[in-house]
Amino acid sequence: MKITHPKVTMSIRKSAKKKKNIVAIIGLGYVGLPLAVLCAEKGYRTYGVALDRKKVNMINSGVSPIPGDQELDRLVAKKGIIATIDAGIIRKSDIAIICVPTPVDKFYNPDLGPVKSAATKVAKNMKRGQLVIVESTINPGVCEEVVLPILEKDGKKLGKDFFLAHCPERINPGDPKWNVRNIPRVVGGVTPQCTKRAAIFYRSILEGNVREMKSIKEAEATKIIENSFRDINIAFVNELAKSFDKLGIDVHDVIKGAATKPFAFMAHYPSCGVGGHCIPVDPYYLIERAKQSGFDHRFLRLAREINNSMPAYVVNQLIRILNDIGKPLKGTTVGVLGLSYKPNVGDIRESPSLKIIELLRSFSANVHVYDPYFPQQSTVKTLDALLSKSTAVILATGHKEFVALTAGELKRRGVKVIIDGQNALDREKIIRAGIRYKGIGR
Ligand SMILES: NC(=O)c1ccc[n+]([C@@H]2O[C@H](COP(=O)([O-])OP(=O)(O)OC[C@H]3O[C@@H](n4cnc5c(N)ncnc54)[C@H](O)[C@@H]3O)[C@@H](O)[C@H]2O)c1
Repeated sequence: MKITHPKVTMSIRKSAKKKKNIVAIIGLGYVGLPLAVLCAEKGYRTYGVALDRKKVNMINSGVSPIPGDQELDRLVAKKGIIATIDAGIIRKSDIAIICVPTPVDKFYNPDLGPVKSAATKVAKNMKRGQLVIVESTINPGVCEEVVLPILEKDGKKLGKDFFLAHCPERINPGDPKWNVRNIPRVVGGVTPQCTKRAAIFYRSILEGNVREMKSIKEAEATKIIENSFRDINIAFVNELAKSFDKLGIDVHDVIKGAATKPFAFMAHYPSCGVGGHCIPVDPYYLIERAKQSGFDHRFLRLAREINNSMPAYVVNQLIRILNDIGKPLKGTTVGVLGLSYKPNVGDIRESPSLKIIELLRSFSANVHVYDPYFPQQSTVKTLDALLSKSTAVILATGHKEFVALTAGELKRRGVKVIIDGQNALDREKIIRAGIRYKGIGR
């Protein structure tokens, strides 16, 4: 297939010529696209391989397919990268970077299908001497046990025909301070030479420090423990929320109190659940791989169980309050504020909101949903319309327009019950306005 290249802006093209190396990014999502535009900005001729023709056309016409990221919009508009669905483009590149998803299936089993498929694309289109980097989050062992055999399949030799390293991405979409260029990174290769090559590349594009790990397994494990650390800490405060509810203690205030300690305490806050492609997913990769080596990660499993239980906890709180005011959940109109898994970002993956909606519907509630980032999936066009229809409201996502809601606005629209899944609203004022309020652990 002939690949047509869109016009690349003059400034990017000029700087790209100055660099010898060409980069191909496989997977142009939340991780791959910002990386691709950064590589282009730093002077690398950059190709992006995607599965979806629509996404390719958008990127090549300068439109970011990722909603709600203005910086990314600005960079994609420069048309500095060339996107294609043709994996043959990988053959032109000196560095091939795999940024594909690493999901779990409905039984929480890790699904390495996209990583295997991307590695196969690289193997079939390998350029001699290519540096292959995996950025996707993977458990320790994936690069050596899964990716390396795929790359070696046709008799190609590590260290001669190709080099393999892992550099886990730490990007936090929507974060105003930390981004793809300034977050410090770790790299690890199968051999010291692989590590060195990858470190040289990342130092050429990043402002953040690049730490060379002793092995590729260490680099893989680093990312998994970062996200497991968050999952465990969130599970702890979610458990405290349930316990303090019974003890009549406001967990939110207690955490704020504990956070005044200037050392050895890191505040995490309870909520209606954990979402996104990382925190509720990555621990399963370690749990499953450790299981194969005869180790049971009880602590990680428990954290996952607690965090997965939060949507049901929220719905139970609603059932209790409705019961108090003599209403069954069945037939009651419940408005759910937000579909995204985190504030002010249009990302729905693993969002607890989806589970809450599913549970509400299973109880035959009359559910309405509004999220400004997802007009297609919203059942009403405006926040006002949602509030006006709803007897009870669940604040599932802390989008700025939701957390700015006042007691007066809720009262005027006739809302009787509010479940504040992010502990973001002014509880005292809402209660004074005569509305039933329930937060998470307060
Ligand atoms: N989203 C985040 O905030 C974040 C942060 C750090 C790390 N990560 C990790 O980075 C990896 C990618 O995450 P993401 O959020 O960018 O996922 P994403 O779903 O936004 O993007 C991945 C893209 O890869 C494409 N893809 C899948 N298989 C492909 C293939 N064989 N060839 C070409 N393209 C293919 C998909 O269509 C998708 O567009 C995951 O392992 C994730 O855990 C994500």
